[in-house]
Amino acid sequence: MEQKHHRKIRSFVRRPGRTTEAQRKALTRLGTKFGIGYEDRRIDLAPVFGRVAKTVLDIGFGNGEALLTSAANNPDTDYLGVEIHEPGIGRLMLMLERAGLDNVRIIQADAVDVVTNMLGDGSLDAINLFFPDPWPKKRHHKRRLVQPGLSMEFARILKPRGRLHIATDWENYAEHISGVIEATREFDRVTSEQLGEEPAALRPPTKFERRGKLLGHGVWDFVYERR
Ligand SMILES: C[S@@+](CC[C@H](N)C(=O)[O-])C[C@H]1O[C@@H](n2cnc3c(N)ncnc32)[C@H](O)[C@@H]1O
Repeated sequence: MEQKHHRKIRSFVRRPGRTTEAQRKALTRLGTKFGIGYEDRRIDLAPVFGRVAKTVLDIGFGNGEALLTSAANNPDTDYLGVEIHEPGIGRLMLMLERAGLDNVRIIQADAVDVVTNMLGDGSLDAINLFFPDPWPKKRHHKRRLVQPGLSMEFARILKPRGRLHIATDWENYAEHISGVIEATREFDRVTSEQLGEEPAALRPPTKFERRGKLLGHGVWDFVYERR
C-alpha cells in the first residue's frame, strides 16, 4: 500500500548548534529549574510556576534579551518562553540565574505544538510574538507563524480581554498580520490612543528589532485584545 507522509510545514529551519560550552553546561545544570518538557497534553500552569499569577507567553524569544528585561521589570508576572534554538535557551537560563529570577519557564519545542496541545483554554493573560521570522518569499508565506488556525488557537488560550502583541520589521508581514488576525473576528485592535502610548513602548527592544533598524527597516507593532 502506498504510504503518504505528511511533513508538517515549519516556521523555522533547524540551524546546526553553535551552543557555547557555557550555554551547554547551563542547559544541563539549569534545565530542571527553568525548563519544562514538551507534553502532548494540556498542562496546568500554576504548579509549573508554584503560584497563581498573571501569565505571559513569549513565542520565539531568540536570545531572550527582551524576555529577561520583562521578567525583571514585572516580578509579579510569570513568563513562559517557547523557543527552538538551543543557544538562545542556554543563554537565557544563564542570565536568569545571574539575575536571580524565578518567574520564567522555558519549553524547547515548536510553539505551534505548545499552543495547540499544551495550553488550556483561557490560561494566559498575554501572548508576545516579537519579530517572528518574516519568510519574505511568496512561496514561503505558508511558513509564517501567523496563520488563521494559530490565530484561532491564540484566541482560545487567552483570557477574555487578554492581549496579543505582535511586532515585525517587515512591511509585507505587517499587512499579513493585520489581515489574518482581523479576519478571525476574535480580536479588537487596541490603538495608541486607547493604550495611552505607542504599542512599541509596551515591550523592551529586541535583538531582531535592532538588527532590522540597522538594515533600514521600519517597525510595526500590533496590540490586539481578545473579544
Ligand atoms: C527572527 S527571531 C526573533 C527573536 C526575538 N523575538 C527577537 O525579537 O530578537 C525568530 C525566533 O523565533 C524562533 N522560532 C521560529 N519558529 C518557531 C516555532 N515554531 N517555535 C518556537 N520558536 C520558533 C526562531 O528560532 C528564532 O529564534
